[in-house]
Amino acid sequence: MKLAVAILISGSGSNMVHLVKSMDSEHPAFPSLVISNKSNAKGLEKARHLGVPTEVINDKFYNNNKLDFEKKLMHTLKTYNIELICLAGFMKILSKDFINNFKNRILNIHPSLLPKYKGLNTHARALEANDTIAGCSVHLVTPELDGGPVIDQIKVKIEKNETEKSLAAKVLMAEHILYPKVLFNFANKIKKSTEIGNRK
Ligand code: GRF
Repeated sequence: MKLAVAILISGSGSNMVHLVKSMDSEHPAFPSLVISNKSNAKGLEKARHLGVPTEVINDKFYNNNKLDFEKKLMHTLKTYNIELICLAGFMKILSKDFINNFKNRILNIHPSLLPKYKGLNTHARALEANDTIAGCSVHLVTPELDGGPVIDQIKVKIEKNETEKSLAAKVLMAEHILYPKVLFNFANKIKKSTEIGNRK
C-alpha cells in the first residue's frame, strides 16, 4: 500500500507540482490531497490540472482562530487518511499540538541552508551578509519554527552580481530537485518500518 501524502500550499505551488509529478507508479507514496489556506493560491489550479483533489481551508473564515483552523485541517487530513504531510510554501505556523499529532510525519522545504536564516527574507539576508553560498533545506517539522532536524540540503553558489531575484530563482530550482528526492527516501523509510512493525 502506498502512503497517502497531503501537500499544503499558500501560493504558486511550484514545489507541490514537482512533488506530485515525482510520485509515479514506482513511488512509495501518492499525492492524495493538496490543501491551501488561501482560496486564490495559484497552486490550486495546478493541482486540479494534475488530477489531485484539492481543499481550501480559508483562514479568513476562521478569523485567524488557529484552533478552529487546525480542527478543520485535522478533520480534512483524517477524511483522506493522510499519513505524511509536505509543507510546500505553506505560510502558516502550525501549533505544537497539531505538530505533535503528526510527529515525525511533517516535512518542510526552506529556502536557506538551515540553521542559517530561519523565517522570512532568506535571500536578502544571505546577500546582506555577503555569503558566497546559499541553498535550500528539507527538514522535519517540530514546534520550533524552521528548527527541526535537517534531512538534506542543496547548496548554490552566490555570484558577484547576484540579486535577490536571481538568487531566489536559482534556489527554487534546487528546491525542485531536493524535495522530491527527500520525499522518496523518507516515504520508503516509513513504509519499510511499518512493514517490519506489521510482521512483529
Ligand atoms: C519556496 O521558496 C519555499 O522554500 C518557501 O516558499 C516558496 C514556495 O514556492 N517556503 P512554491 O509555492 O513552491 O512555488
